[in-house]
Amino acid sequence: MAENNLSPASIISNLGTHFIGQQVIYYPCLTSTMEVAKQEAQQGAAEGTVIIAGEQTVGRGRIKRAWLSPKGNIALSLVLYPSAVNLPSLIMLASLAVVHSIEAVTGLKSQVKWPNDVLVNGRKVCGILVESSVRGNIVDYTIIGIGVNVNLRLSDFPEILSTATSLSDELGRDVSRLSVIRRLLLEVEKLYLSLQAGGSIYEEWRDSLVTLGRRVRVKWGKAVCEGVAESVARDGSLLLRRLDGSLSKIVAGDATLRD
Ligand code: BTN
Repeated sequence: MAENNLSPASIISNLGTHFIGQQVIYYPCLTSTMEVAKQEAQQGAAEGTVIIAGEQTVGRGRIKRAWLSPKGNIALSLVLYPSAVNLPSLIMLASLAVVHSIEAVTGLKSQVKWPNDVLVNGRKVCGILVESSVRGNIVDYTIIGIGVNVNLRLSDFPEILSTATSLSDELGRDVSRLSVIRRLLLEVEKLYLSLQAGGSIYEEWRDSLVTLGRRVRVKWGKAVCEGVAESVARDGSLLLRRLDGSLSKIVAGDATLRD
């Protein structure tokens, strides 16, 4: 088993960031880092505060799904106070930060499945949840939750075996969670500072999508439709060419690759 020391000191020491990850709150076990991060944000936590769990008992995913967070994985949530204009880019930021970190630490190439699943060899290795409190044009806070399957033996989890993978299963060896977390925090800060300076990360996110040009089934709310994922808009929406030739713009949903 790789190291289990995710103490705040081991994460912060010589991290090289200015604010992301400069405050770390670690829980060996908790319900969901999203809940704790939300409470911290409501109490005015510093921007970049990160809540990390050794394991979560009620990890949650997008569209009210449960998220498995056993020991050996990464489960963290970051507190940000972005401007409203940067809000749509945070999903892109989070998935790109994960792609960069996985490659830097393990050498594995990963891709993004719209809107923000990270896949290695076609299977999901990371899920991302972005939740914001917004009033009119004011963003009170945004929480970015990131779950990475690091040292997880998928054969122990038959319910996700066909769709998920882990870094350790891909490499045939354990991976340091500490190294992945530290790199992730650096990558988040780099991309966030670039956004704040007016830079765009849309092009890189678009080019990292495995979804484009593929036949997909997209679910949003109670609606389901099929078509070819033609493009993505700058706000992160999916442009779906439907079977009848019409084009739909889907702001949020869940896509399944059909070919
Ligand atoms: C998804 O793919 O549906 C999103 C999964 C997000 C999981 C992470 S793990 C850390 C944070 N805490 C949670 O309860 N969920 C997010």
